[in-house]
Amino acid sequence: MSTRPANPASDSSPTTEFFDQLTRFSIDLGAMTDLGPLSERALQELSRVGGATHGALYLLDREHEYYRRAATTGSPAKTKLPESIALDHPVPHRLSSPQSEIASHHTASFGGSFALDVSDEPALAALGMALALPHISRGQLIAFSLLDAAQPRGQHAASVHALLAVLAQTATNAVDRLMLYEDLHRSHLLMKRTDRLKSLETIAGGFAHEIRNPLTSIKTFIQLAPERKDDPDFIRDFSRIVLDDVYRIERLIDEILDYARYMEPKLTEEDINDIVSSCLYFIDVKADTKGIRIEKELATNLPRVMLDRQQVKQVFLNLFLNALDAMGKAGGFLRVRTKLLNRPGGRVWVQVETEDTGEGIPEGNLEHIFDPFFTTKHESGEHEGTGLGLTIVHQIVQEHRGEIEVRSVPGKGTTFLVNLPALSL
Ligand SMILES: Nc1ncnc2c1ncn2[C@@H]1O[C@H](COP(=O)(O)OP(=O)(O)O)[C@@H](O)[C@H]1O
Ligand SMILES: [Mg+2]
Repeated sequence: MSTRPANPASDSSPTTEFFDQLTRFSIDLGAMTDLGPLSERALQELSRVGGATHGALYLLDREHEYYRRAATTGSPAKTKLPESIALDHPVPHRLSSPQSEIASHHTASFGGSFALDVSDEPALAALGMALALPHISRGQLIAFSLLDAAQPRGQHAASVHALLAVLAQTATNAVDRLMLYEDLHRSHLLMKRTDRLKSLETIAGGFAHEIRNPLTSIKTFIQLAPERKDDPDFIRDFSRIVLDDVYRIERLIDEILDYARYMEPKLTEEDINDIVSSCLYFIDVKADTKGIRIEKELATNLPRVMLDRQQVKQVFLNLFLNALDAMGKAGGFLRVRTKLLNRPGGRVWVQVETEDTGEGIPEGNLEHIFDPFFTTKHESGEHEGTGLGLTIVHQIVQEHRGEIEVRSVPGKGTTFLVNLPALSL
């Protein structure tokens, strides 16, 4: 066991070299996005300055309620460091205690707490370690580092402690930041999953409701057929109705499968203008026969965006087809604009605006249009709706971490805004 820190030099004040190393250390940690490598780097620096040949860094595992070993220096075989340490183990327990309880011979404060050495806490010796450093954030011990170096006495010890305290605090900040980030990520995933389950539940209920009508007519036809088999009018009319009902059920099943199939977007770098144009090409003929003019205003300064091409095409096709439906036979225009959005923090988003001059959406319906099976196209002879189009649109936009907004003036028209972040790989 070394009793002298490798650096800083043996005088009692930190050297310029130490500050340079501290700066590099702080920059290194700041750039890290994974707790594993971050723990390794932090422990390596603490061991070097503390003059330790063996050591470990333990991180609080909130899910399992223990501290898990995230990094080690030296050979773990030579120490008695377990993979996990219980929350109420004497070492973490004492490290999170208020400072007054801890022996007063340490001069440096570690975020309001103090380091422990073997003379303070015999449980350290049982782990083969000589010094324990707390990493405390907002009053919680989020991690701790153990070093096997025996502490030098006197002024020198105070200086090493002060340096360790600075390094430990830098490490604490970095660990805290990544833990928060991981928590956020986990809750985001959880939310996505519960969202899905909730909407699938609604869908299952809606589906049962939707197929009941067509099933009833199919059943009636089968029941009546034996006695009316010689009535050609009955057979002709009812066959047509029943066939329509079967198509309707098929269409519902297709759309539900589209929605229910979990589609993690397959991101590729795409040109949003290109996707919009290709969707407009599909609806061109239909628009023409209805006397609808299409106006396209595509921004030329758009970055390529990471997205799932097939899914995003489905978004715009659904929006464009709804717009055509809303304009009936009276004609009108469909204007599609793309635009660059500069968001705070230098983030770049791309916006696609779909504006139609259709019948508009009554205020009371606006909050329901994204609900599964909400449709006003039950009676319109030309086209029956399933009410799943906008549900799917919403789902896909959400999967791309985008936003969708709608504005509508009944009798004048409707505008949908789809904002997509320029995601990076
Ligand atoms: N551009 C639009 N103009 C007017 N109403 C719209 C528009 N887009 C959607 N809607 C309304 O939202 C409802 C739900 O749309 P959607 O989920 O695509 O289902 P569907 O088209 O099968 O009815 C439509 O029935 C319609 O009432
Ligand atoms: Mg639709």
